[in-house]
Amino acid sequence: MKKLAAGNWKMNGSVATLTEVATLLKIQSTPICCEMLLCPPATLLSQMAAMAVGTALKIGGQNCHTKGSGAHTGDISATMLQDAGATYVIVGHSERRAEHGETDTLVRAKAIAAQSAGLVPIVCIGETGPERDAGATLDVIGTQLHGSIPDGATAATLVVAYEPVWAIGTDHTPTVEQIAEVHAFIRTRLTARLGTEAADVRILYGGSVKPSNATKIFAIPHVNGALVGGASLKAADFAAIVTALSAA
Ligand code: 13P
Repeated sequence: MKKLAAGNWKMNGSVATLTEVATLLKIQSTPICCEMLLCPPATLLSQMAAMAVGTALKIGGQNCHTKGSGAHTGDISATMLQDAGATYVIVGHSERRAEHGETDTLVRAKAIAAQSAGLVPIVCIGETGPERDAGATLDVIGTQLHGSIPDGATAATLVVAYEPVWAIGTDHTPTVEQIAEVHAFIRTRLTARLGTEAADVRILYGGSVKPSNATKIFAIPHVNGALVGGASLKAADFAAIVTALSAA
């Protein structure tokens, strides 16, 4: 399994900030043992993909439509992302679930569309703070996982990201035990659903991953990489996280 360090720029970045990508490529010029991915806003995808040609950097989208083309103003299809140079796409991020009412059923349809276009979907799941406080974390994760991932997925066609909503952008990371419990639970559920193939499906952790906590998080069983928000905007920080994952 090749671990995955993925950066999600969310609604951040301009042509001017592509200098961070150039800096990242300079820092990470030596061969690395993990995959390195940046998911910029769609406006920067082509330019970033052009910069990534011949390097270890891969490019992904942050969302896609379920259809390949058509009358869907403002939307972007998985095929279009692929055409622009993407090889991955994030689907079902909690911000899209919360701000755009995305359901598990819709997320799953997007993941299937991504697979059909030759992209690897990074399917995001995660409980809210109140859900954790109510002791419902594993119920929520189990339901989201069941509803959001496509049948017949393989290690080559699916990545799962566990992102507790209360840990995103807050500097409140879960304890090692909390992350370990959820990742082991996800692995068990994936195995029940996908069989032996599940052993190699990468399960990323996301939520306030920083250079200062990356090594600790990457040592947790069944943590096969990270989905990084804020820290992926700064080349030095993201490079440090990539280095930590490579060493894990
Ligand atoms: P932060 O790393 O900024 O907490 O964001 C995590 C995230 O939502 C990545 O998708």
